[in-house]
Amino acid sequence: MKEYYEFFCPVKMVVGHKALDHIPYELDSLGAKHPMFITDQGVVSAGLLKHVENAFKNSGMIIGPVFDEVPADSSLTVVNQLASLYQDQSCDSIIAIGGGSVIDTAKGVNIVVSEQATDLMKFTGAGALKKPLKPFIVIPTTAGTGSEVTLVAVIADHEKDQKMLFTSYFLLPNLAVLDSRMTLTLPPHLTAATGMDALTHAVEAYSCLGKNPLSDAYAFQAIGLISQHLIPVTKNPQDKERRLQMAQASTMAGIAFSNSMVGLVHTLGHTIGAICHVPHGMAMSILLPFVLEYNLKNDPSGDYQQNISQLLLPLLGDEVYASTKHEYRADKVITYIKRMKEQLYQLTKMPRTLKETGKVEEAQLEEIAQASLGDASITYNPVEVEFKEALAVLKSAY
Ligand SMILES: [Fe+2]
Repeated sequence: MKEYYEFFCPVKMVVGHKALDHIPYELDSLGAKHPMFITDQGVVSAGLLKHVENAFKNSGMIIGPVFDEVPADSSLTVVNQLASLYQDQSCDSIIAIGGGSVIDTAKGVNIVVSEQATDLMKFTGAGALKKPLKPFIVIPTTAGTGSEVTLVAVIADHEKDQKMLFTSYFLLPNLAVLDSRMTLTLPPHLTAATGMDALTHAVEAYSCLGKNPLSDAYAFQAIGLISQHLIPVTKNPQDKERRLQMAQASTMAGIAFSNSMVGLVHTLGHTIGAICHVPHGMAMSILLPFVLEYNLKNDPSGDYQQNISQLLLPLLGDEVYASTKHEYRADKVITYIKRMKEQLYQLTKMPRTLKETGKVEEAQLEEIAQASLGDASITYNPVEVEFKEALAVLKSAY
């Protein structure tokens, strides 16, 4: 039993096939009536913004400016531009509709407009925000990042060529809306990649050094749902029941890792994203089984083997779990995850190795291994990793 840990998730969820319809009521109860919408072109062209706008019909609320041009890599310039728009139009709340970049941008805007900040840099790091921000609603359009329940935001300052990291409980939205209509049009390759990101959140949450009994509960349940629904929904994107199950799994995995941390899959994935621009979910999918193999082989206490073994139950069900001897369960988990990757490759051509991405040169692996050692998540990996070990994992995944 852990001597001490914390667990916090104050985000209200509304979940359902018509969950969006509750937003005006929820906004009203937050004391707001003039929200600004922050989204991107992908959301607009998929017709998703319309669903949200329709929810406001007859509500008597005035939808504020709709900014629909958040780029894939959110930046300080966009955040400042949006904050001016919010102030010029006297908005009183923010609704973010999109994936990780849109949500992070909206979190940044909320800091600027709530704190009247001219220099966002002042609010980086942990504990810099001291009071609640403006009412904030998040509507995710992917089932993977878990950003609707995480207390961090990353925003790039392209002028200074640096990324700013914000961490605060006040960045959590007041409300997350999971509506099956919002992920129904997500293409199969993105469904696959974001779903594997969610699986990685849950697996790392369940096995990293920050794990605790409460985060375990969310991670365990998320893994079961992802195992049951990810492949079928990638085959049949219009299945709204499974879409809603995946949305919930992603949120649960987000709650889990937000309260436990992650491990080496994310460490290496962050660096591969930064250096080679491999999309995050794709990097997670590629690396997950290789990191599991490395950690398992170098597990000093046997705790890791124990944790991974337990995941056979939500992944493959009670019959397989019961009929597999304890010492083979962890290996079976890895084999199963490799099989998921193979199936997703067959369905969407999602790469299985770093080489298959076409974005990573073998000669870059040393640079990636070196840069990875500076990523904070490495300290939560259950097995110690230095340059040599990081390089070995990268080579195995190449
Ligand atoms: Fe992730």
